Amino acid sequence: MSDSMKTAEVLEGANSMLAFDVERVRADFPILHQEIYGQPLVYLDNGASAQCPRAVIDSMSEVYETYYANVHRGVHYLSQRSTDAFEGAREKVARFINAASADEIVFARGTTEAINLVADSFGRAFLEPGDEVIISHMEHHSNIVPWQLLRDRAGIVLKVIPIDDSGNLVMEAYRELLGPRTKLVAITHVANSIGTIVPVKEVARLAHAVGAKVLIDGAQAVPHLQVDVQDLGVDFYAFSSHKLYGPTGIGVLWGRFDLLNALPPYQGGGDMIQRVTLEKSEFKAAPHRFEAGTPAIVEAVGLGVAIDYVTALGLDNIAAHEHGILAYATAKLSAVEGLEIVGTAEDKAAIVSFTMLGAHPHDIGTILDRTGVAVRAGHHCAEPTMDRFGVDATARASFGLYNTREEVDQLVEGLMLVKEFFG
Ligand code: ALA
Repeated sequence: MSDSMKTAEVLEGANSMLAFDVERVRADFPILHQEIYGQPLVYLDNGASAQCPRAVIDSMSEVYETYYANVHRGVHYLSQRSTDAFEGAREKVARFINAASADEIVFARGTTEAINLVADSFGRAFLEPGDEVIISHMEHHSNIVPWQLLRDRAGIVLKVIPIDDSGNLVMEAYRELLGPRTKLVAITHVANSIGTIVPVKEVARLAHAVGAKVLIDGAQAVPHLQVDVQDLGVDFYAFSSHKLYGPTGIGVLWGRFDLLNALPPYQGGGDMIQRVTLEKSEFKAAPHRFEAGTPAIVEAVGLGVAIDYVTALGLDNIAAHEHGILAYATAKLSAVEGLEIVGTAEDKAAIVSFTMLGAHPHDIGTILDRTGVAVRAGHHCAEPTMDRFGVDATARASFGLYNTREEVDQLVEGLMLVKEFFG
């Protein structure tokens, strides 16, 4: 079946759903239908990696079984077909986030590599010692460490926007940090550890007023919100496939075309050059100048089908469904004695982090696992956020489009067992 037929089939299936039918959605995810330690699996670790629907899994098998070959290199049929599918995925990504063109879509290994790419290439092109990069106090390590490495290597100054006790960005403090030396604001769209949705449009407007560029870590946003990079008015936007119901090993850096072409390559190798002599090399334009070596071809196809899948369901429908789950879970968890929710911003995506009196989050995670419930426990690669709330770890339930209220009830039942052990 061709890619376009497959897309049409997915769209037809979704259009026939008059309302968001979570049971029909769940039927699309083979992995969900199993028992763990004799209990129905309740998968609440979508913030780490979301599961793949059958259409994604099948599309990747189809590549290997029928047209797998390297891209951009072969005159033969299979290579041309792989190239078309790979570049077709780039076009799907561009439409998904409303990029001006597919040439603005760079495939990277994931959000982490995309941010490292900007830190390295933007840093070399535009940052002088003493220039300032602003991040926030609720970043994932992948949007902290690359800037610290750059600071240590290039002498930039790293500034941090504080968050309040609920996990909201303190906008007044942000305004005060901005100044003539601010060159880049690198900030999350949705905080992975506490779920806060950052007012990115306003952040970008204020940054641009002082001439700074804006990079958004959208890893936790694209599965939950309709993202329109042009409407947000940002300059770079990074996200991963594996949180968007696609495979691991691939992610996206979107950048404004002129800006991308003003950056030097991040890595050197095959497929990113116009001409190489032993003395020097000339590079292709974006996006290829940033894609040295054989890319994640099969994974790109899988990501494209994951995008078809969520698009067919409708991001607005997904957001409404998840919002209902978040409200239900927040109410149910708040009622558990000794449980404290960490991160209570007004505008939140479907993530609930919490601690329980007397029980370490790792113990919570381990006991929940025995009841079939998968959550993440630890610092969530966001140690500064944990420090801000005075904890070394939390347990985190992160919801996706296939989660149900009954699953929240199973989570709460598991927490009652935790209380029995530790209460
Ligand atoms: N960044 C991923 C998470 O938040 C792994 O769990």
